[in-house]
Order: sequence, then C-alpha cells, then structure tokens
Amino acid sequence: MSAAVATHVPPLVFFSSVSGNTARFVEKLGMPARRIPLHATEPLLQMEEPYVLVTPTYGGGQGRGEEKGAVPKQVIRFLNDERNRSLIRGVISAGNSNFGEHFCLAGEIISRKCQVPHLYRLEVFGTPEDVDRVSGGLEDWWKLQ
Ligand SMILES: Cc1cc2nc3c(=O)[nH]c(=O)nc-3n(C[C@H](O)[C@H](O)[C@H](O)COP(=O)(O)O)c2cc1C
Repeated sequence: MSAAVATHVPPLVFFSSVSGNTARFVEKLGMPARRIPLHATEPLLQMEEPYVLVTPTYGGGQGRGEEKGAVPKQVIRFLNDERNRSLIRGVISAGNSNFGEHFCLAGEIISRKCQVPHLYRLEVFGTPEDVDRVSGGLEDWWKLQ
C-alpha cells in the first residue's frame, strides 16, 4: 500500500491472543496496524498519533462482576497509558455470539470509558463482508474526523 493511500485510513492498534483470530481479521483489512504485545515483559506500545483500537472480548459472564475480565489485561495496560488513551478515536470489538449478552462486551466498556464510538462488532475473525464493510466504512468515517 502506498503512503498516499495510508493517510486516508486510521492506523489500527490491535490485540490478539495466541488463537490469533483478531490478527487474522486485521491482516485481511490490509491497513497499517500495530499489535499490543502479548506478554507484560515486552515494552509497552506507545502511540504518537490517533488510532482505532481492535480488541477481542474475554471472560465476560464468568461471575467476576458484570464487566471484569471482558477487556484483555494487555489492552487495559495499553490504555492505562495516558497518552495512548488520549489518542484513541474509536473501537472495533471481536467476540463470539455464543456468549450472548456478553458478545463483544469489551468494545462496549472501552467505548463508554474512553468516550469514543463503538464502530463495529465482529464474529470471531469476521466474514469477507465484514472486511469490506469495515475497510470501506473506516475510510469514509476517518475523512470526517
Ligand atoms: C476463555 C474465553 C472467553 C471468551 N469470552 C468471550 C466473551 O465474554 N464475549 C465474547 O463476545 N467473546 C468471548 N470469547 C470469544 C473471543 O473473543 C473470540 O474467540 C475472539 O475471536 C478471540 O480473538 P483472538 O484469537 O484474537 O484472541 C471468549 C473466548 C475464550 C477462549
């Protein structure tokens, strides 16, 4: 992708666990993206420009409080950095609808706490239609920001 094209889409920041579903989706989007490290021993990812966050949901409905655990701890660590938090512009969440009311709960929580729109919800690694919808939609939306 040329630099000229890349300026019309938001940089993505994503987290994906070892199962790699979210990474697969982000790869299919073909947009500039940076990955939040899996292990706390790795250096914190620090953003210097506005971005859209893509995160899976974990642990919703495990009886540890209404929301606790739904946002991966690696994403919490990333957002606990004040500068990173100030640069988030939107969130896309992934999940599995078998989790019912906890489907994509991480996106709801981040949207509320960071006061940014919850742009899309994806089932696992998304369908080809999701890829088209998200890449086209993000580009249009980003132009308005
Ligand atoms: C232990 C576990 C808990 C999960 N909890 C939720 C949940 O509460 N809500 C949801 O929508 N999806 C839930 N999921 C589904 C994941 O969000 C989904 O598989 C996602 O694609 C994982 O992304 P990743 O492979 O990039 O980490 C859970 C999956 C696992 C393995």
